[in-house]
Amino acid sequence: MEFHVKSGQPEKQRTNCLIVPIFEARRLGITAEKIDKQCEGFLTTLARKGDLEGKLGQTLLLMHLPGLSTERLLLVGCGREGELNEQSFTEIVNKVISTLNDSGALEGIFCLSEIPVKNRDIAWKIRQTIQILHQAQYRFEDFKSKKTTLKRSLRRLIFMVASRRDAVAAENAVREGLAITHGMELAKDLANTPPNICTPTYLADKAKKFAKSHPKISTAVLEEKDMAALGMGSFLSVTQGSNLAAKLITMEYRGGKKDLKPIVFVGKGITFDTGGNSIKVPPHMIGMKYDMCGAATVFGVLAAAAELELPLNIVGVIPSCENMPGPSATRPEDIVTSMSGLTIEILNTDAEGRLILADALTYCERYHPQVVIDIATLTGACMLALGPYASGLMSNNDALADSLFKAGTQSSDKVWQLPLWDEYHDALKSDFADISNVPIADIGARTIVAGCFLAKFAQKFPWAHLDVANTATLATGRGATGRPIPMLVQYLLNRSNEL
Ligand code: BES
Ligand code: MN
Ligand code: ZN
Repeated sequence: MEFHVKSGQPEKQRTNCLIVPIFEARRLGITAEKIDKQCEGFLTTLARKGDLEGKLGQTLLLMHLPGLSTERLLLVGCGREGELNEQSFTEIVNKVISTLNDSGALEGIFCLSEIPVKNRDIAWKIRQTIQILHQAQYRFEDFKSKKTTLKRSLRRLIFMVASRRDAVAAENAVREGLAITHGMELAKDLANTPPNICTPTYLADKAKKFAKSHPKISTAVLEEKDMAALGMGSFLSVTQGSNLAAKLITMEYRGGKKDLKPIVFVGKGITFDTGGNSIKVPPHMIGMKYDMCGAATVFGVLAAAAELELPLNIVGVIPSCENMPGPSATRPEDIVTSMSGLTIEILNTDAEGRLILADALTYCERYHPQVVIDIATLTGACMLALGPYASGLMSNNDALADSLFKAGTQSSDKVWQLPLWDEYHDALKSDFADISNVPIADIGARTIVAGCFLAKFAQKFPWAHLDVANTATLATGRGATGRPIPMLVQYLLNRSNEL
């Protein structure tokens, strides 16, 4: 799929399909007005006869209008001009896509500048359109014998903008939108791949291949013996029930000045979470191939950063293993020693994400990071707290939390902060070790308590934790979303602009 930007007179364009917004109460809008003039009041006549109401999501596809060089004119109802919000914009774009896919048009010119969305500029609309379009066309069919064949579908979309100045912003938005989308698709493919294929070794191989294809990215993979030598008893306790080898994957992107401290992303890479000996009930186990969505996010963010050639230094750290039950798996009440030296009483082997992340966070110290951001499908409770709309954000640094929140708003990939107060920390007191991995008596607030656990291993740098158990997969649980890649790439773009 190709995207281009054009400024000029929409009514003069020669194309397969000109896509033009109209509004309720027979309001034509600037472009539709021009077209109306060009075809001698045809649209006004349609409106008078009641064929052009402009209700949100209504469409009217017209062929070969007199006076116009476009083959088709697609009029898109946008509802009341003053009431358009982000959801209605998404609805409009989806409607345009499905109408175009049902038509024979291979390309279209989209006059979206004049769709007024509160507090959103042309760049946002373009990025959003690119994301919505890719989301609509995304299929994961590697394991289907018969692939869906889309009939003649859209190949090229041209964004019509009002002025030359808008065109510059628009071109940038296309570049950013594409990079974000490519990152999201990489992450979705990894996450959707079944757990018998997408193993820790598979992820490590992907990382090595990834480094080969990007000159500024390098990869290193630590094996279990290396982790043992580093004293990663917490991480290793999770993998010991699995036949597959655990991997600690690191990827470095060097796009910034030599002395610029890196931004480090840590992604939970549990390729399947049975719960271990604290085994999950079968319905809760479905979807646990997605327990590596944090890792997939790290891949996607690095890919986008490399595509955009951001002037930053970025490190990705991915602890990856399976969480399996069995005679050699960790028992509840085992005590292990983490790389930081803290001893951990494992009261629930299903709280494994925090155990692998603990050692990965300690490992980050060697990078002398500006900030460390971990991304993890950490607690089912995050869905109870926030529903599918905002990822959970926890942090030991207000400035970092604020900039992630801002990036979430800018990219419409929202995050919402939860507190890490001392009261919650107290829940992790253990009778026999320095801390336990879950409270002995449930206090609720499982998302926060998990965040508190991680915080104990992130005291040496500004750190934020993103719980994406509620946002990384679709509400149906059958498909990855690519979140929170848009927010994180926005954060990196903002950081680049501050340099
Ligand atoms: N991977 C799960 C969290 C999860 C649950 C993600 C549902 C997506 C959907 C995590 O390892 C886990 O099992 N967490 C437990 C923590 C509990 C034992 C304190 C949970 O959420 O129940
Ligand atoms: Mn678990
Ligand atoms: Zn898990």
